[in-house]
Amino acid sequence: MKWGECMELQLWKEILGPYRQAVDELLVKFNHIIEDHHNAGLYSPIEQVKGRVKSISSILEKLQRKNQNINELEDKIEDLAGIRILCQFVEDIDKVVQIIENRSDMEIKSIKDYIANAKDSGYRSYHMIIYYDVNTIHGVKRVQAEIQIRTLAMDFWATVEHSLAYKYQGNIPEDIRARLSGAADALLLLDHEMSSVRNVIMDAQASNKAKETLVADILSNIQNLYKVANKREIVKIQDEFYKVYQGGDFDELSHFGKQLDIIAEGYRAQSIS
Ligand code: GTP
Ligand code: MG
Repeated sequence: MKWGECMELQLWKEILGPYRQAVDELLVKFNHIIEDHHNAGLYSPIEQVKGRVKSISSILEKLQRKNQNINELEDKIEDLAGIRILCQFVEDIDKVVQIIENRSDMEIKSIKDYIANAKDSGYRSYHMIIYYDVNTIHGVKRVQAEIQIRTLAMDFWATVEHSLAYKYQGNIPEDIRARLSGAADALLLLDHEMSSVRNVIMDAQASNKAKETLVADILSNIQNLYKVANKREIVKIQDEFYKVYQGGDFDELSHFGKQLDIIAEGYRAQSIS
């Protein structure tokens, strides 16, 4: 590799560093939103979150396509940092938008609602450009990031269409385009159908998560008891737990969890005094 090329790569690294950091941090933050909902026994409007920094080759391609100067890169290319949030239901998208609106660490610059107004291709998604501050060794830098919010069905379609557009270099043959458009209609219908059972599914998922969390807490409490309690008592507690667990009644499990907390608390008090 020539020295000049090395320098250029170093420059790219310097430019993209804050965007990489922004993507990393935003992923942590959105994943915590999922976790917080689960821990509270609530349904999470976010199902999954992904992120990427735009590759150098697609940055160059976009600059060329939009006829823009490389000096304006950071202003003009709003999706150097990209976050994609996947939801189960269309209704969840509004919830996610509200969450982002209410955050103090993300400022909304602009939105594009391709759900209310689908693209001609059939593409549906809710886009947001935000400003986000990253703290680096050189100080605070305000970067832009694109957040795409869509349902699993919308994502499925966009992924397939993207691969086809890539394969045909943007000129998807008319018959395949028609098929894609038909598939988009079918997926729109799927999203509607799923919405009609949303409440039932949300309840089921929230209580599943709540039970999972409860069981994990109980098991970790029992494990901690091994350090302080006598073997016989622990075996007794464990047997009792399995009985309640197999009974499958959430309230009983919750009651058991509280009893166990009291026992654990008792041992903790003993060990401190
Ligand atoms: P670019 O399309 O990225 O040049 O930016 P833009 O200024 O046109 O913004 P737009 O909101 O239209 O698109 C932003 C991003 O949304 C794109 O980079 C894609 O990831 C996605 N996107 C937009 N339109 C389509 C589409 O028709 N199909 C697919 N698969 N993705 C799309
Ligand atoms: Mg576009």
